[in-house]
Amino acid sequence: MHLSSFLLLATTISLTLAAPETHLQKRAVTLTVDVSKTYQTIDGFGFSEAFQRANQIVNLPAAKQRMVLDVFFNTTSGAGMSILRNGIGSSSDSRSDLMNSILVTKMSSPSATPNYTWDGKDSGQLFVSKEAQKYGVKTFYANAWSAPPFMKTNNNENNGGYLCGVSGQNCASGDWKQAYANYLVQYVRFYESEGVKITHLGFLNEPDFTTSYASMLSSGTQAADFIKVLYPTLKAANMSHIAITCCDSTGWNDAGSKVSQLKAAGVENQLGVITSHTYTSNFNGPLKTSLKVWQTEYSDLNGGWTTAWYQNGGAGDGMTWASILHNALVNNNCSGYLYWVGTQWGNTNEKMIKIDDTTKDVQISKRVWAFAQYSRYIRPGAMRVAATGAPNGVSASAFLNEGVSGSLVVPVLNTGTGSQAITVKVGGGFVGASVTAWITDNSREMAKTDAVLAADGTVTGTVPGRSFVTFVLTK
Ligand SMILES: *[C@@H]1O[C@H](CO)[C@@H](O)[C@H](O)[C@H]1NC(C)=O
Ligand SMILES: *[C@@H]1O[C@H](CO)[C@@H](O)[C@H](O)[C@H]1NC(C)=O
Ligand SMILES: *[C@@H]1O[C@H](CO)[C@@H](O)[C@H](O)[C@H]1NC(C)=O
Ligand SMILES: *[C@@H]1O[C@H](CO)[C@@H](O)[C@H](O)[C@H]1NC(C)=O
Repeated sequence: MHLSSFLLLATTISLTLAAPETHLQKRAVTLTVDVSKTYQTIDGFGFSEAFQRANQIVNLPAAKQRMVLDVFFNTTSGAGMSILRNGIGSSSDSRSDLMNSILVTKMSSPSATPNYTWDGKDSGQLFVSKEAQKYGVKTFYANAWSAPPFMKTNNNENNGGYLCGVSGQNCASGDWKQAYANYLVQYVRFYESEGVKITHLGFLNEPDFTTSYASMLSSGTQAADFIKVLYPTLKAANMSHIAITCCDSTGWNDAGSKVSQLKAAGVENQLGVITSHTYTSNFNGPLKTSLKVWQTEYSDLNGGWTTAWYQNGGAGDGMTWASILHNALVNNNCSGYLYWVGTQWGNTNEKMIKIDDTTKDVQISKRVWAFAQYSRYIRPGAMRVAATGAPNGVSASAFLNEGVSGSLVVPVLNTGTGSQAITVKVGGGFVGASVTAWITDNSREMAKTDAVLAADGTVTGTVPGRSFVTFVLTK
């Protein structure tokens, strides 16, 4: 099997994972990577620190603060996260975990002069954004959960309500679409004045869900009504480079129907990215759009806090998250994947890092290391390429970083209990000069592990049971 494969692929490189782990070792299998067969471009991986989670990082003692920032963003020692999703606040103050707005004063009419104010903090998110930037993060997704209350049918930032002026939602106070677009542009300007360039802008969060915190309802058709105003407003403000996103639905099914409505309304070409969460319905295949797609929010909201890689295959286990990321990237065409919050207090797995605000105790879950296996080496602009032949229990994918000196990244997740020897043959013109390999399992976090590049281009290594090894081939 090895010999004939080798002859067929004599002009390619082979990457073999074959360190013997004796009785548990399974027969070596062959993965075929073809860099000439390309899929979606990757924008990156990230999370949010909305609703004052960012302030938890702001308020940590210096050494712990640096440690947390390194774990999230450092491309040498941490996860190398590349996208930060900031909440655009709609609250009048900062009680509890509320995000205060840049426009608290009620405008007397849609054409009145708005009294925008900037507090230089944005609920701690400006600090985290600036820090992220120091690690090389360039993708900042600003996302509003609601328009200011006085622009809405229910005159409240909470409990759903619609933006006044979208189809079927007329208000005595007038049509607030333009005023809302101006407000979003102003938020971007405040960040620009602080040296942080917003790259993606979203005006809805979970518009299919009414809840007691900031929320605003919208169909895809109503979203399109607003996009037709926001798009030229960004253009007039010299902000055409900012990608408009829609619609951060609660689940993949709602995102699918929103996409159909956005297309029917003729605004697909005014959008940059289709965004969805996966709470109410999970991935069920690529959304039917030519636009990039990001999964922008998901987490295990209920499970008891765990830092384990593998405990019982539960929703908070790191290994479970490695499988979720594989599914997003390989089966659902995602160009971006964002966890819900990076940090939080309390006993659930909503966050990747648990911070106790009183004791300043910091606990890092393996979920962040599941991300790291992808996000440290698959950099923004990378292209997913074909990786076939993984046996049951093994999830393999491959990504080619942009540029002549770009590396080829091959994440191989083994969810089975036995150690797996694997041969990866790389075709399509990529020739590696060196290889490194990085492993996460119950006892390790992106630790260096063995992989040997032979003279004929074959790399040998192994993927132990319930572990994740990412191979990085450089030219
Ligand atoms: C403008 O907003 C700020 C902050 O909310 C407030 O302190 C100030 O009184 C407002 N000015 C006017 C003229 O409403
Ligand atoms: C990332 O971590 C490395 C290794 O610890 C360190 O040398 C580097 O300064 C860190 N990068 C940043 C931007 O802090
Ligand atoms: C946009 O850019 C053009 C050309 O550089 C400039 O003339 C114009 O004033 C800018 N408009 C805004 C709103 O910044
Ligand atoms: C995957 O997404 C890209 C845009 O990033 C799109 O052009 C392509 O058609 C999508 N593929 C599938 C199978 O949906």
